[in-house]
Amino acid sequence: MIKLNNNIEDLTTYLKSKGWLGDNESIVTVEKPGEGNMNFTLRITTETRSFIVKQSREYVEKYPQVAAPAERVLTEAKFYEVTETVPSLKAMMPTLVGLDKENNVMVMNDLGNGSDFTYLYQLGKKILEEDLFSVVDFAATLHTSITTDTQDSRISNTKMRALNHEHIFNYPYAVDNGINLDDILPGLQKEANRLKADNVLIAEVKKLGDLYLEDGDILLHGDYFPGSWLATVGGLKIIDPEFCFFGKAEFEIGVMLAHLKMANQFANIIEKAIDRYKSLAELDTSLCYKFMGIELIRRIIGLAQLPLEISLEKRVSLLNEARELIVN
Ligand SMILES: Nc1ncnc2c1ncn2[C@@H]1O[C@H](COP(=O)(O)OP(=O)(O)OP(=O)(O)O)[C@@H](O)[C@H]1O
Ligand SMILES: [Mg+2]
Repeated sequence: MIKLNNNIEDLTTYLKSKGWLGDNESIVTVEKPGEGNMNFTLRITTETRSFIVKQSREYVEKYPQVAAPAERVLTEAKFYEVTETVPSLKAMMPTLVGLDKENNVMVMNDLGNGSDFTYLYQLGKKILEEDLFSVVDFAATLHTSITTDTQDSRISNTKMRALNHEHIFNYPYAVDNGINLDDILPGLQKEANRLKADNVLIAEVKKLGDLYLEDGDILLHGDYFPGSWLATVGGLKIIDPEFCFFGKAEFEIGVMLAHLKMANQFANIIEKAIDRYKSLAELDTSLCYKFMGIELIRRIIGLAQLPLEISLEKRVSLLNEARELIVN
């Protein structure tokens, strides 16, 4: 197994051995294309072009002591392969340029120096309606065009789903899970403890977790939050489908809505997004709201924290709202 690094000489040897760098081509710069935790990702620039190289390893890049499914980039590549048959999806994603299955390395085209949408968590930042509709339309097109009716087999991504299941449905509710939420925001731990002792809630969360682990009939991106949406000169793009699987649309849309809530967007944005989605695809709104509740809780009291700027009071009110959505 070759472990890539950012040394130009080593990269040149590797890329030439794969035919991904021409005989007369040389690397001019190597840089980190943007923030990421899970994988080893580089932007390689030559005299004439640039491209992105992504390697997945048996651990989380930023936290090497945390194990992760080593072959996840192959699943991400599979997502690009199956979606590129649909022009409107292809137009909004990177194109797969090369794949080294032996070393879990993927090459894709460079979408340019864009920024993701995590700035929306900053107070006062609002998403443009046209961007919201782009995000919703991409999901609806994906969910209606890549299905068990159009594909021979499902992408199951079992190990990544198990990892996500742990972080979404178990860890936030585990009593001594090792995070001190008061370090994040004083007063938050008490609120988490209240939820952890709520057996009615826990039972419903377990059911929703089982539903997440069930195979569904449509392809989901699987990690549909502002960190996977990129604003580029070529418009809004969707990246990083390493958690993709065949599941339920309600999970995907619920997650998306939870982030719009935590980013404190205009009050009617949730209805607007749901109406738009429903004009294009089917959705069980009540189930979608339950998954929204699940994502709110796991992001507010779980390990995968976001750069949220909302107050403790606002977080508590979101937790309470989430609890009601889940149990009702
Ligand atoms: N094809 C691309 N074109 C341009 N920039 C890209 C491309 N792919 C990734 N990037 C940039 O690199 C960053 C990290 O990429 P990506 O999200 O795929 O990595 P990751 O390690 O899976 O991240 P995470 O830990 O969030 O899952 C992105 O946020 C984006 O800024
Ligand atoms: Mg990722």
